[in-house]
Amino acid sequence: MATKNKNTFEFAPAPESTGHIQLRDQYDLFIGGKWIKPKSGKYFKTINPATEKQIATVADASEKDVDLAVKAARKAFKGWSQLPARERGKYLFRLARLIQEKARELAVIESLDGGKPIRESRDIDIPLAAAHFFYHAGWADKLDYAFPNRSVEPLGVAGQIIPWNFPLLMAAWKLAPALACGNTVVLKPAETTPLTALKLAEIIEEAGFPEGVVNIVTGAGKTGAAIVNHPDVNKIAFTGSTEVGKLIQRATAASDKKLTLELGGKAANIIFEDAAINQAVEGVINGIYFNQGHVCCAGSRLFVQESVFDEVTTKLKARIENLVVGDPLDKNTDIGAINSKGQLETINKYLEIGKDEGLEMFQSSCAVPKKGFWCKPTIFTGAAQSNRIVQEEIFGPVLAVQTFRTISEVVQKANNTPYGLSAGVWTDKGSKIFNLTSQLRAGVIWANTFNKFDPTSPFGGYKESGFGREGGIHGLEAYLKFND
Ligand code: NAI
Ligand code: MG
Repeated sequence: MATKNKNTFEFAPAPESTGHIQLRDQYDLFIGGKWIKPKSGKYFKTINPATEKQIATVADASEKDVDLAVKAARKAFKGWSQLPARERGKYLFRLARLIQEKARELAVIESLDGGKPIRESRDIDIPLAAAHFFYHAGWADKLDYAFPNRSVEPLGVAGQIIPWNFPLLMAAWKLAPALACGNTVVLKPAETTPLTALKLAEIIEEAGFPEGVVNIVTGAGKTGAAIVNHPDVNKIAFTGSTEVGKLIQRATAASDKKLTLELGGKAANIIFEDAAINQAVEGVINGIYFNQGHVCCAGSRLFVQESVFDEVTTKLKARIENLVVGDPLDKNTDIGAINSKGQLETINKYLEIGKDEGLEMFQSSCAVPKKGFWCKPTIFTGAAQSNRIVQEEIFGPVLAVQTFRTISEVVQKANNTPYGLSAGVWTDKGSKIFNLTSQLRAGVIWANTFNKFDPTSPFGGYKESGFGREGGIHGLEAYLKFND
């Protein structure tokens, strides 16, 4: 379903069993290059959302633990930032190579802990995570070329808080530019998917990073807030809900912490009558059902030009009947488990809201397993701008379909949400693509494709989707101080 990323490298066939992966029963905190027990002695469990079985217990970091991690990062900062830049690059390169070597194990753990199809972890998440480290390894000693005639220096200690939808990939998006620029880091993975970040801590040890350069602390919102509020943190990078993003913006407003936020989205995917319809339908499927729709840039609003509405919706409905929903570790699975019980409840609430708003709901007729958290691919037709399922982020496999007649009408509708992260346009006419890209208020716009990611291209939002860019040269700016 999801398009193969060009960074894909060869893998062994997807494993049928998980016997070969190495996981501890209990994980402590990775602080100052050591595994340290949480001061409170508290641990929480992370489960497999496809079976509801516990995989491991993970330390619940308190304010005191976060303080230790920040101190370790501060202590490591001088040495790391003054290391010859090419040496920093070599560490990142080594990390990228080790991720490649362990790609299969990381892919299985990612799918076990978070529920995403193994094909996606294997072909997209893990290779792209490696690609981000390779890309930034190259930047480490070329910052002078990136910012010619400007005097730049690292910010210091970066606090990084990441979500559960692309756990290892988001860790890579955050860590790679921060480290390349000479910062040290305290990173907190999401509470439902901590395991690949903890595996990454082991890989960082194996790569021989100086102690304290990367510290990984686990926990939920309280742990994240402790990082945000710590006075000795110079930079906060957050990816997650708009609600928490606003809290963080408020909490950091009075400080001199530099802040970047990557928040929610409600992307418009726009099909014109002159588009290659079959290709567009595949793009819509990939746009909304990739990673169960747990994607900030998911194409959750479909706009179809009126004359091709029947053709598009008939084909979409037929196509979702063929999507395989089930075991994330099965290489034929298209839609895995919903990441958590809470997220499933949110999605189910929106299905009820859609029905209550009088929209027509279509779901594939497939069966889903009894245990675990599942949602069948869903399409709502007859949606209007004022509907909540059109305005609010659902973060699940739920598509809202609307129609349009003219370009000005679709531009007005597409821009009419609080978000502005991404959009997609399907048309045979280059002129329409240029027309729309200049008018749509979205940080990323794909033409005749969707959900394509690459470390060289900046990613980030307008409006309530956040600010700051990740990836490309722009992503480096977020981790540097400009002294001129
Ligand atoms: P969330 O924003 O609560 O979680 C994201 C990260 O922030 C996690 O690591 C979490 O532990 C941390 N966090 C939570 N409260 C915090 C606080 N007060 N201070 C600092 N860090 C804090 O998102 P949640 O509750 O998991 O999902 C709710 C909704 O958010 C989803 O339904 C979806 O709409 C949206 N979301 C968007 C994401 C994106 O990629 N833009 C990712 C995850 C969720
Ligand atoms: Mg889990």
